[in-house]
Amino acid sequence: MENKPEKSYQIIKTGSHKDWTQKPAEWQANADFWIKIITENLDPFRLKLTNKAVLEFFKGKKNLSVLDAGCGEGYLCRQLAKSGHKTQGIDFNPKLIEAALREENKKPLGVKYAVGDIKKLPYKNASFDAILSNHSINELDDPKKALFEFSRVLKRGGRLIMFFLHPCFDLNPNDLKGIFPQYYFQKVKITRECYLVSGIRSPSAYSYLHLSLSEWLELIEKTGFSLEKIKEPHPGIPVMKNDEWWRINFQKPLFILIQARKN
Ligand SMILES: C[S@@+](CC[C@H](N)C(=O)[O-])C[C@H]1O[C@@H](n2cnc3c(N)ncnc32)[C@H](O)[C@@H]1O
Repeated sequence: MENKPEKSYQIIKTGSHKDWTQKPAEWQANADFWIKIITENLDPFRLKLTNKAVLEFFKGKKNLSVLDAGCGEGYLCRQLAKSGHKTQGIDFNPKLIEAALREENKKPLGVKYAVGDIKKLPYKNASFDAILSNHSINELDDPKKALFEFSRVLKRGGRLIMFFLHPCFDLNPNDLKGIFPQYYFQKVKITRECYLVSGIRSPSAYSYLHLSLSEWLELIEKTGFSLEKIKEPHPGIPVMKNDEWWRINFQKPLFILIQARKN
């Protein structure tokens, strides 16, 4: 640790931490929590805002072959399959994939699931029309490896849709008075004590990668993509003004969506 720990998160400069990518075992501790949050629809951000943003590209399209990379318990795969896409999900957490398969067995939608690492995908070149990464690539120490893999398994002209916490706002300048840019412009790991969703705490801590926005965009270009779109999903000005839940829970831009085209 190079900085005094803040109340809600710790920052670790990654130079001294060679590979801090979360391991499947670490995710295993939070798997039941995650399954509960998703299957019981407990995350208002997803329900009211982010699912729609993440799935917008697919609206009105049919029959795309889609990979959900870091699919968790697979709810986005199910939504995509229901709207007519051939969907596969991959996640390195066996418990989450088991939960996804249980759902598939209960109500078959033809979704295929695999346990595997998104840095080393078990798919042939040019297999997919689109790849979705919802809050997953930013859990890696080295997202470039996953981006090269995404580029390899996407067809030319295929789309990558990545969604994660907004890198311009994932660090709080007030916590880092005078030294904020020294963190903003570096690769750092942010560790939080737990996920807190609708008052429910996850049993285990979690970490994610902070890179500056320009660094993310550069990575995309270096791995064979052209940037197509950036979105900062928000509930809209009237809602932010008038809805107390959003006023309390959306005090800064929280999310970014980056859409890129495989060259
Ligand atoms: C925050 S959860 C999001 C899950 C899902 N995309 C969703 O939106 O519900 C992050 C997921 O990424 C998975 N993950 C993290 N690193 C991974 C890796 N290297 N390979 C495959 N999955 C990974 C975790 O197991 C976890 O399911």
